[in-house]
Amino acid sequence: MLPAAEAPPRPRTTSTIPLAGTGEGLAEVAAALARAVGGASTARRPSGPLPAGSPQDVLGAVTSRLGPAVIPGTGVGPDAALHRVARLLVEQGIDLTHPFAAAHLQPPPLAVAVAADALAGASNASQDTYDSGPAGIAVERWLVAALANLAGFEKRADGVLTPGGSLSNLMAIMLARDTVARRLGIDIRTDGVAALGKPVVFCSELAHFSTHRACAVLGLGEAAVRAVPVDADRRMRPDALVEMLAGLNADEIPLAVVATAGTTDFGSVDPLPEICEIAREHGMWFHADAAYGFGALFSDRLAPKVAGLQLADSITVDLHKIGWQPSAASVLLVADGTAFSSLERQVDYLNPADDGEQGYDGLLGVSLQTTRRPDAVKVATTLLAYGRTGLGSMLDTCHDLALHAESRIAAEPELELVAGANLTTVVFRYRGSDELNGALRRDLLRSGQALLGRTSAFPDEPGSPSVTCLKFTLLNPNAGVDDIDALIDLVISTGRKLAHQEGAA
Ligand SMILES: Cc1ncc(COP(=O)(O)O)c(C=O)c1O
Repeated sequence: MLPAAEAPPRPRTTSTIPLAGTGEGLAEVAAALARAVGGASTARRPSGPLPAGSPQDVLGAVTSRLGPAVIPGTGVGPDAALHRVARLLVEQGIDLTHPFAAAHLQPPPLAVAVAADALAGASNASQDTYDSGPAGIAVERWLVAALANLAGFEKRADGVLTPGGSLSNLMAIMLARDTVARRLGIDIRTDGVAALGKPVVFCSELAHFSTHRACAVLGLGEAAVRAVPVDADRRMRPDALVEMLAGLNADEIPLAVVATAGTTDFGSVDPLPEICEIAREHGMWFHADAAYGFGALFSDRLAPKVAGLQLADSITVDLHKIGWQPSAASVLLVADGTAFSSLERQVDYLNPADDGEQGYDGLLGVSLQTTRRPDAVKVATTLLAYGRTGLGSMLDTCHDLALHAESRIAAEPELELVAGANLTTVVFRYRGSDELNGALRRDLLRSGQALLGRTSAFPDEPGSPSVTCLKFTLLNPNAGVDDIDALIDLVISTGRKLAHQEGAA
């Protein structure tokens, strides 16, 4: 680097268009945001996590404030546009900081992460090549190494940030496909998937649907997915996996097993060490979808729940779930970085070999994307700000809230506990019909008072018919037990009201 005294003066631009950047452009962004936030603070905030009204009312209010769906010939200017959008996001959007927002794996993001994300956006750096933004590349390498270390992976590990857990799972199954193919002497890039025969991917019946979608996209077909039954604790049954492997036809190739560390609906964790052993015996890739559960490693108390993660060939980590990041902040970690070789690309305009030899290299070769946001920046900033134990104590708080919800639900005669606290999730139902439970959730959505999750699940024994359930996914570390009690009171009073109406009809 040139010493400051010798650095040439920065050329001055003459345009007055406010541009973002890491120099003067940062001040432009900060000033524009401050003006927009000033406007938003005068907006009418809903009292619940969502605005009251039917979907038509709420969506209609937004579109009417945007005006006709035609790009205006002349704009209103940045301040007026920001002011209008800030107000409609506040008045018709979602408030995840509200303690009654408990529907999805969608936390209120940490302010520091959002601020860092704005900084990253202001630079418009891209992760693919050195000349598109060196700092972001170094930050991503640092972050991947730190997360791999937390996972218990060794030095040869690598990873990449992706636009979400679904895409991390897709990449994991792609790397599994390509690695197993290479072992069989097949080059998928030139030979295509047909050369593989009939690959089979195992996952539990509670695995996230992105596994099925990935198999379809990767040309394996959804028929390649075999759903392994779960036990009463909603964990994949290793004995059933062994039985299904024994029942494969001679032309079927066991390609991969996807274990879930933190199922979407229940937070349950498949028995990772046992599944790994079976995967190894059959030469299968072992992927752990820890989109939800990886964050348990931040907490001394909860880390034992995901013991065995370090045995996986690849791990999906979603820090926009437990990690309190604005989406997307997903990472695919790989135990052996050479698995990325099927993604290697030499492109004359991006990464010519002689540039690479001189260190002018980016992360093009580990991603399916070319231009790619530096999402690592917000995550790295958060880890520097709070450390492992800071995030761990946020998770412990949310876990305690789930434990409180579990015991309160179990004590309420009008409620039925379906699955107790696992990570930050509790599944239950209002005693009554499936229709009543569905209507109860919609009633709260319409009034905007509370956001509950919904799913269907077997109430007692695995295999028994599924019923419609309600779900709390508790990810607000500022909420307290009084909030959870008030939320449960609201569920009960709404259930009573609807049961009464059902009886009267
Ligand atoms: C276990 C699991 N895997 C994958 C995903 C998909 O993540 P994303 O929504 O970031 O694509 C989810 C989403 O909830 C999930 O719970």
